[in-house]
Amino acid sequence: MDAAKAVSLLLDPRANHDPVPAYEALHRHGPVAQVASGYYFVSGYEAVDAVLRDPGMEAYDARRLDSQWSDWRDNRAVALFADSMLRTNPPQHTRMRRLAAGVFTARRVGALREVVAAQVDEAIGELPEKAEGGVVDLVTHLTYPLPIGVITALLGVPAADRGRFRRLAEALTAVLEVRWTAEDRRLAHDAALELEDYFTHLVARRRAEPEDDLVTALAAAHDAGGEQLTGAELMGNLTLLLVAGFETTTNLLGNGIVLLLDHPAYGERLREDPELATAYVEEVLRIESPVQLTERYTSRPAVIGGTEVPADAELVLLLGAANRDPARFEAPGVFDPDRPANAPLSFGAGAHYCLGAPLARLEAQIALPALLRRFPELALAGRPTRRPRMNLRGWASLPVTLGAS
Ligand code: HEM
Repeated sequence: MDAAKAVSLLLDPRANHDPVPAYEALHRHGPVAQVASGYYFVSGYEAVDAVLRDPGMEAYDARRLDSQWSDWRDNRAVALFADSMLRTNPPQHTRMRRLAAGVFTARRVGALREVVAAQVDEAIGELPEKAEGGVVDLVTHLTYPLPIGVITALLGVPAADRGRFRRLAEALTAVLEVRWTAEDRRLAHDAALELEDYFTHLVARRRAEPEDDLVTALAAAHDAGGEQLTGAELMGNLTLLLVAGFETTTNLLGNGIVLLLDHPAYGERLREDPELATAYVEEVLRIESPVQLTERYTSRPAVIGGTEVPADAELVLLLGAANRDPARFEAPGVFDPDRPANAPLSFGAGAHYCLGAPLARLEAQIALPALLRRFPELALAGRPTRRPRMNLRGWASLPVTLGAS
């Protein structure tokens, strides 16, 4: 199959529901496919990993935005992300990342274990009351509220304000997709204004009365002066932490639940031995990557997966395809939590490696076995529906019956 055909398969909206045929076609073609002049899709595991770790590759930053889209600053959502770690390069990225890593410490995440366990117990305990006609939607009542509860506890967002974040995050993350409509942009812009206003007030409150939370710590990092974190960077990174912190984790939890219900023998093993959760969660991350792609730009000519690529080329790195590369994973389409040396690229790699990976893993490792143990007869009530997104892969709704508990 030629590259153009494989690429058109992926760009077909049907691929939002099942990108695997497109990924398989890309793998048959080779690790890198040229889509247009200066525009490439990278699907091979080694090639994606190498690009992510190569300091000569640049993230999609304000300079690139300037060259493509003259009035992007008028969209607050795009502008907010442009001041965050995700959309910056060294030295700005290095400075922000060091700072954020300094406050987003292993100690802080470790201390969250009890918070996560308590929130899991609470959400799972309430599921029977949420049933309507015997059916509960786990997206509405578990996979959204849990990550929102955890990240807002970490940031220091009052519990009473949590209700609005699902809508805001859904609107904002549209700008992380490859394709968006004018309506997506408008909704994202409005959501960004609302969130920025919210954080401005919260930061002011924390300055007046500091707490042991991330908003206080990041605001203090800004206030320490000496070019540590600008006001725009403070807003951009708070937004990134909030939004990146749960859309993705929601998808990890939902993808994991469906995979375990579709593979009941594995579900049974996890129910009996929650210690297996570490390996299970890695396999869920691999086979249904909650983030399917990211992008980089070449700062100089490079050879990627054997293909010569010029300077200033755009590379779409297909993390979800890399995780199913037959050159790296035996029988990549098979859900097999026992596979050896599983190292999916779902959290990226290199300088932008996901800051929240330990937290996302912790939530899934606690929630998945807890749900199966509490409801041994848990079953899908019909097929769930996919979110119509190419990048953030997850379920829009996940109706289940709980059975006798
Ligand atoms: C970066 C995936 C959860 C915060 C990233 C990247 C990926 C990713 C692929 C790298 C993007 C790139 O290289 O261009 C995921 C997945 C998650 C998850 C699959 C859940 C299953 C979280 C959580 C948080 C978080 C819970 C925070 C609480 C971040 C931040 C970055 C990032 C701040 C930017 C780091 C940087 O650019 O230096 N994430 N993430 N993520 N993630 Fe996550």
